[in-house]
Amino acid sequence: MSHTQPPPYRIAPSLLSADFSRLGEELKAVIAAGADWIHFDVMDNHYVPNLTFGPMICQALKAHAKKADGTAVPMDVHLMVQPVDGLAAAFADAGADLISFHPEASGHVHRSVQAIKARGCKAGLAFNPATSLDVLDWVIDDIDLILIMSVNPGFGGQSFIDSALRKIEQARARIDASGRDIRLEVDGGIKIENIAQVAAAGADSFVAGSAIFGKPDYRSVIDAMRAALAK
Ligand code: DX5
Ligand code: ZN
Repeated sequence: MSHTQPPPYRIAPSLLSADFSRLGEELKAVIAAGADWIHFDVMDNHYVPNLTFGPMICQALKAHAKKADGTAVPMDVHLMVQPVDGLAAAFADAGADLISFHPEASGHVHRSVQAIKARGCKAGLAFNPATSLDVLDWVIDDIDLILIMSVNPGFGGQSFIDSALRKIEQARARIDASGRDIRLEVDGGIKIENIAQVAAAGADSFVAGSAIFGKPDYRSVIDAMRAALAK
């Protein structure tokens, strides 16, 4: 663990594991339960073997992504799509606050990052379990978020892949060396039981789908995650 002053932690529930027949209610319930960000998993049945939701649903939910006091809860859009740029633009227009994409899915990673930022969104890069961080040599000064996949993208409810811990440590070292304010988010298999270990490796933001939506009381899961992080 090389980081000195870890920024505050973010819990980002993934709507992938919500009840799709009641998406608006699920969004409100998980915000009331303390979600910091809403993680929105976009799958295209091409880059990944599954199909989820598009910008129209993001836009419809965005209107309700607020805390009781009116504070906006950022929409953290994770694009598992290829090509990237057209949908990235559509999600920016649909109210996304952060947009992450997989570098393998873009022919021109730097251009895609610039296109996202030009639309006023924060830009992130998502790294599959077997993808190296090398592309960061050239774009770390341009991005706002690094998303380390600790499962293969496409489905919720998979088990955490342990090699992600080493990659989180490497990503944290790169962020520290850059001196920039970049979020380090981890996605896949995060639970109450392993979140502290993932934080110790250097992560500051945590996607959790099945761990939260798989339980009846979302607040008790989020509170238990925060308690584990506070130890
Ligand atoms: C997987 C998605 C994840 C997924 C995580 O492709 O990117 O965000 O929702 O689900 P859990 O937390 O159940 O592993
Ligand atoms: Zn995701």
